[in-house]
Amino acid sequence: MQIQIKKTDSPKLKPDETHLGFGIHFTDHMLNMDYTVDRGWHHPRIEPYGPFVLNPATMVLHYGQGIFEGLKAYRTDSGDIQLFRPRENFERLAKSAQLLCMPPIDVDQALEAMRTLLRIEQDWVPREPGTSLYIRPTMIATDPFLGVRASHTYRFFIILSPVGAYYPQGFNPVKILVTREHVRTVRGGLGCAKTMANYAASLLAGQKAEQEGYTQVLWLDGIEQKYVEEVGSMNIFFVIDDELITPMLNGSILSGITRKSVLQLARRWGIPATERRISIDEVIDANRSGKLTEVFGSGTAAVISPVSELKYEDNILSVGDGKVGPVAQRLFDTLTGIQYGRGKDEFGWTEPAL
Ligand code: COI
Repeated sequence: MQIQIKKTDSPKLKPDETHLGFGIHFTDHMLNMDYTVDRGWHHPRIEPYGPFVLNPATMVLHYGQGIFEGLKAYRTDSGDIQLFRPRENFERLAKSAQLLCMPPIDVDQALEAMRTLLRIEQDWVPREPGTSLYIRPTMIATDPFLGVRASHTYRFFIILSPVGAYYPQGFNPVKILVTREHVRTVRGGLGCAKTMANYAASLLAGQKAEQEGYTQVLWLDGIEQKYVEEVGSMNIFFVIDDELITPMLNGSILSGITRKSVLQLARRWGIPATERRISIDEVIDANRSGKLTEVFGSGTAAVISPVSELKYEDNILSVGDGKVGPVAQRLFDTLTGIQYGRGKDEFGWTEPAL
């Protein structure tokens, strides 16, 4: 693959690494690539980061035919840069593409394009503890057309953002509101794809949760509103009676790469780790009987996000005395240890970025 490179004449000042926030700052360059039916994916190019000029009829703006990924490049203590299971992100992008009737990108080509961009932007990978360079590969429908059908043309792009913690609370436990009023997705819908619509569907409930003093929403299934699915934009885990439980992948839950890593680590440590349906009633009962010791979310952005309180209708469930539980702590330390190259990578999850 021949990637054309055009460098910027006016590099930006790098932001203060101690106050990065999440998704606020963007690097000097981005990758763009186009798809047409005749040529397939073509013309990969790295260009100065900048706005798109889009026809107002561009399909993604109307019907949301768009998918994305999120992964990170980590700076190790020796100054090297590494990635965590990057192939899996591009494999998932291909699966999301299939669900949204979009043309998949060859995983090796996408990885090569991302690495070329990272080589150019390597100085943007921050060095402060807890920071990283968030990588956002995105694919959008670009036909200027208002009929409802799959587009015939697409744009793929990758942008990069130096980031700190996703939640302002960092690794401190958060309070979560269980909603029955809203659902994120339904079985047979797009829940297992990383597509824009799922995040749009989460906004109103998230806003209401915030107004009530909660950080995020816990999503129940879209059919019976009985079974737990996800938390905010993350997968969810419970520790009940020393067993780690997460909802099984049922078509409406995103197959998180951190989720998979959590299950693999727990099993390696001899912690029983189960993927099954878990109802909110079971969670409440386990809390009442003192068997629910931990609840936490998992995702690329926040890694592990412990939950200290769940509110469900009139029930307020305090979890683990408001402190980070031992399983969440061990997972956070181990995962970040591997990601930043400080801990042993027994599973071979990391690879050099450049
Ligand atoms: C993640 O946990 O990585 C997410 O999915 C959040 C992202 C959409 C910002």
